[in-house]
Amino acid sequence: MPDWLKDAVFYEIYPQSFYDSNGDGIGDIRGIIAKLDYIKDLGCNALWINPCYDSPFKDAGYDVRDYKKVAPRYGTNEDLYELFDTAHEKGIRVLLDLVPGHTSEEHEWFRASGKAERNEYSDRYIWTDSWIAGIAGHPYIGGECERNGTYMLNFFKCQPALNYGFKDPKYPWQMSYLDEGPVATQEALADIMRFWLDHGCDGFRVDMADSLVKDDDNDKSATCSVWRRIRTMLDEKYPEAALVSEWSNPYQSLNSAGFHMDFYLDHWGNGYNTLLRDYETQGDDDSYFKKDGNGDIERFLNDYIPKYTATEPNGYISFMTCNHDTPRPARTLDEAELKIAYATLLTLPGVPFIYYGDEIGMKYIENIPTKEGGYTRTGSRTPMQWDNSVNCGFSTANADKLYLPVDPESSNEGYDLTVSAQSGRAGSLLNTVKKILAFRHDHSQLEAGAGFKVLLGRKDKPFVFAREDLLIAVNPKETAATGEIGLTGPAKELFSIGRCELNNGVLNMAPQSFAIFEM
Ligand code: GLC
Ligand code: CA
Repeated sequence: MPDWLKDAVFYEIYPQSFYDSNGDGIGDIRGIIAKLDYIKDLGCNALWINPCYDSPFKDAGYDVRDYKKVAPRYGTNEDLYELFDTAHEKGIRVLLDLVPGHTSEEHEWFRASGKAERNEYSDRYIWTDSWIAGIAGHPYIGGECERNGTYMLNFFKCQPALNYGFKDPKYPWQMSYLDEGPVATQEALADIMRFWLDHGCDGFRVDMADSLVKDDDNDKSATCSVWRRIRTMLDEKYPEAALVSEWSNPYQSLNSAGFHMDFYLDHWGNGYNTLLRDYETQGDDDSYFKKDGNGDIERFLNDYIPKYTATEPNGYISFMTCNHDTPRPARTLDEAELKIAYATLLTLPGVPFIYYGDEIGMKYIENIPTKEGGYTRTGSRTPMQWDNSVNCGFSTANADKLYLPVDPESSNEGYDLTVSAQSGRAGSLLNTVKKILAFRHDHSQLEAGAGFKVLLGRKDKPFVFAREDLLIAVNPKETAATGEIGLTGPAKELFSIGRCELNNGVLNMAPQSFAIFEM
């Protein structure tokens, strides 16, 4: 386990929307370098950068055409190496996004794989043995290549599945995950990882990490064994490198596959549930942190506590404000609600992630046209709002050249969802996040793996938990709340939002309040 994760707080950057350094309307690597001091000052000491590799961008870069080349629209490999170096000088680690399950249909491996003649890449993807074949449960595409077969997809049509084999092959064209072809795919993946690690990257966020071996059993044992091999390679050669999975099953990802962190993110039905979104009704507009909602912390705890207890010796569960696939929390929560929500998220165990712009409460922009396969996700991908100048300070390009439009409300008088407006306002969301993060870094009791115990977790009561000798109390509702926590001895308040008192084990919390006491 890399030691640096204990105190890590990540900032997720969607590179095309963060900061445009050369005025072409698209964010870029040099733009990230220019904003490292902002990120550091915010209190984040690690980055996850969404895919920045060469790509036709039919899925915003998750369709990789060349794993070892930075997309020209973002700059050059040298720019990225410089980002690693500059970030390290400032004490910031950098994770890249690794897309192991599929490539773009324009990747040279795929072009070779689709040739009629057998070659080195024939087994790199999953091909049936006839131009008209396929099996139930998986999407297959035919008619695109000269090879007499159809190929399996992993996500969009542009994303053929790489061949990590099947758990139990049932047809002659299916390979076992232990066969030569699938093992060669694993090697190719390890080679890509070494390439970036050797150039200074600190690890990877792993896309669809559970998707490798097809028709795996329920506990994903074959896919886990693939990751175990990768983890062994890291432990031997890159012990400081960190892996975080898009898996959302920590029993598998942390206990079996060997990931250091796994995102707390459930793709249920149409929804993407996070700590900040409701667990039972899955309503778009529901959250435990809504002041007038019927939020119930028990729903969250019933899901989280068994996962935490079973996996805590092996890795960290990562809460996030949201990500590039989910609605921004400000779609549901207003500024006062967001403060309580973030304070909670940033004091629970594990390694937290802040999605760019959530620290200033950027809006989810409703009903904008889809961009690069974003569909409803597009509204969470608009340009970072730095200041109140043209294009919110994101870019000097004409507005029609921007990757996505800025929040249309940003031209309104008094608009303050920008870094510059909120820097100057005491008590702004941005300054609140800064304060919480500074507090977190100052208190080892809030480290990722430090002790955690729920003291009160019932509906209509404050949510109270301990991190070592710190007691953390949360009341997101618009009504005052009291709770008894069976605690004797003095308690000293160290941090608060709103008014809270703790006397002889009785907690009195003002509406929408949050507090940290030392016991
Ligand atoms: C993951 C990514 C998402 C992408 C998909 C396919 O869910 O987060 O953005 O579209 O995988 O790679
Ligand atoms: Ca640019």
